[in-house]
Amino acid sequence: MSKPTILVTGAGGQIGTVLTNSLRKKYGSDQVIATDIRPTNEPDGIFEQLDIMDKDRLTQVIQDYNITQIYHLVAILSANGEKNPLRTWQINMDSLFHVLEAARIHKIERIFFPSSIATFGPNAPAFNTPQLSYLDPTTVYGISKVAAENWCNYYFLKYGLDIRSLRYPGIISYQSAAGGGTTDYAVDIFHAALEKGRFSCFLKSDTKLPMIYMEDAVRATIDLMEAPSEQITIRTSYNLTGLSFTPAEIADEIKKHIPNFTIEYHPDFRQAIADSWPASIDDSMAQKDWGWRPIFDLAKMTSEMLMQLKKSSVNQKA
Ligand code: SER
Repeated sequence: MSKPTILVTGAGGQIGTVLTNSLRKKYGSDQVIATDIRPTNEPDGIFEQLDIMDKDRLTQVIQDYNITQIYHLVAILSANGEKNPLRTWQINMDSLFHVLEAARIHKIERIFFPSSIATFGPNAPAFNTPQLSYLDPTTVYGISKVAAENWCNYYFLKYGLDIRSLRYPGIISYQSAAGGGTTDYAVDIFHAALEKGRFSCFLKSDTKLPMIYMEDAVRATIDLMEAPSEQITIRTSYNLTGLSFTPAEIADEIKKHIPNFTIEYHPDFRQAIADSWPASIDDSMAQKDWGWRPIFDLAKMTSEMLMQLKKSSVNQKA
């Protein structure tokens, strides 16, 4: 395959910020067109402002840059989605249809679509949730991801569109903030620990959720996109995980670095969302099909997060 020319939607989001950088390092700065509804800080890359609900503008950008691959990251996440369910459905689904149709018409070679552990609901097994589980999500975000996975599979079967997808667990990153999700506490806790030495958690102490460190998540994404087509046996979305932990477990790990750190638990509406999701995920299909292996466990991720956040606060002050 020749060098791709990539369009990233939602490039200013938690994943987009880091993934765009990694794609630029891999394929060259000029090969990656970052787009977002809001201007982002793009010191050394091409940026186009794009409201993904405007499909004519999407077409224009695809044509202007001869795009061959799309990473479609725009979405309203689980917690924010509950504030306006119909609007969430509209944005998450219409944006996907705009991308799928543009990809079909303009013969885009490969598309990446992020799905989520939010596709699972109370009737999927909570531990080592299998790839093929009953999907009865209780959030509008989860419902939109289940529908989207099936539409991706449909475009693959009907039009031969090469769409690949991962069911991301909660993503933990130092480079970018999480926004509007139920797993966000696992990012916020590091900032609070360093800035205040204490954290108020919106989930209960023993709520175990699947997570992944950003470096692993980005590697999984690019590895999936680079895998030969014949290795991709799942065209809805692959289960993916890095590690699983509870708020109490991550707090204990942080205490190894910041002994005076304290945590309080004040569960809110997000507790019910977390309770409907798996505690751990079976990602053996990703392992088997394209060689997925996570690197970051709880200890390695915690020390890396604290080290990187300290470094960036020193740099900001300098
Ligand atoms: N991190 C997402 C959320 O919490 C799950 O995909 O909404």
